[in-house]
Amino acid sequence: MSARQDAAFAHRYGPVALIAGASEGIGAAFARKLAGVGLDLVLVARRPPALEALADELRAAHGISVRTIPCDLGTAEAADAIYLACQALTVGLLVYNAASSTVARFLETPVETHRRTLGVNASAPMLLAHAFGGPMAKRGRGGIILMSSLTAFQGTPLVASYGATKAFNLVLAEGLWGELSGRGVDVLACCAGATLTPGYERTTPLRAPARFAPKPQDATDVAREALRALGRKPVVITGRGNRIASFVMRRIFSRRLAVATIGREMTRRYD
Ligand SMILES: NC(=O)c1ccc[n+]([C@@H]2O[C@H](COP(=O)([O-])OP(=O)(O)OC[C@H]3O[C@@H](n4cnc5c(N)ncnc54)[C@H](OP(=O)(O)O)[C@@H]3O)[C@@H](O)[C@H]2O)c1
Repeated sequence: MSARQDAAFAHRYGPVALIAGASEGIGAAFARKLAGVGLDLVLVARRPPALEALADELRAAHGISVRTIPCDLGTAEAADAIYLACQALTVGLLVYNAASSTVARFLETPVETHRRTLGVNASAPMLLAHAFGGPMAKRGRGGIILMSSLTAFQGTPLVASYGATKAFNLVLAEGLWGELSGRGVDVLACCAGATLTPGYERTTPLRAPARFAPKPQDATDVAREALRALGRKPVVITGRGNRIASFVMRRIFSRRLAVATIGREMTRRYD
C-alpha cells in the first residue's frame, strides 16, 4: 500500500488493533502488517514468551505501542477480561485469529476437546465482536475480521466440529457485515486454505502430502489479502488456487460429492 493508503487505513481502523491469537502464524502476520501501517497493537495468546518476543520486535521496528495480554481464549471469562484490559484504549480493529483444532474421528475424541473447540473458535469471537463492535458502531468506524476456512463451506470428516465452528464464523461475519456496514463498521470472514504456520506444520503428516489441494499459502499473503478485502466485501477466500478449488467444491460438485471427496482425502492423509 502507498503511504496515503496506509494513512487512510490507520484513520479508518486505528488507533489500536486487537489481535486474538497473535503470537505466531497468521496472527503474527496480521500483527506485522498492522504495525507496518502504524497501528498500536494489543496481542493476545496463551504463551507469554512468544507474545513478548513479537511485541519487542514490533516496538523496535515500528516505534508503536504494543500491549500483551496472556490469556486462554477458551475460558468463559476471557472475553470480559480482555475487554476490561482494553478499556482505556480505542480499539478500531478486531482480528479474531485463534483456533483450536484436532484432526481425529468425532466419537473417538473426548467431548471436552469439542467443547474447547466451540469455546475458542465460536464463543470467544462472538463475545469479542459484541464487546468491541458496540464502541466501534458508536464511533461510526472500525473493522472486525474473523478467521474462517475453506472447511466452512462443507462438512469435513475428521475435523467435523472444527469445520462447523469455521462455518459459524463465516455466517456470523456475513450477518454482522449486513448489520454493521451501515454504521461504519466493516466485517470480513477470511476463508484461508492450507497455510504454512506452526499450527499447520504440527498437524500435517509428512508421509501423506495432499494430492489435489492447492499449494499451501504463506501466512503473510493471507493477512495481506484479508486486509485488502476489508471494507470491500463480506467474505474473502485467500489464494487463487483456493478460490478455484472452492468454486469446484461449491458450484460444480453436489454437497454429497464434496463431502465424500474431502472425506476420502482426509482419511488417506490423517486416519
Ligand atoms: N494454517 C492453516 O492451514 C489454516 C487454514 C485455514 C484456516 N486457518 C485459520 O487461521 C487461523 C490461524 O491459524 P494458524 O495456523 O496461524 O494458527 P496457529 O499457528 O496455531 O496460531 C494460532 C495463534 O493463536 C494462539 N492461540 C491458539 N489457541 C489459543 C487460545 N486458546 N487462547 C489464546 N490464544 C490461542 C496461538 O498462540 P498460543 O499457542 O501461545 O496460545 C497462536 O498465536 C485459525 O483461525 C485457523 O482456523 C488456518
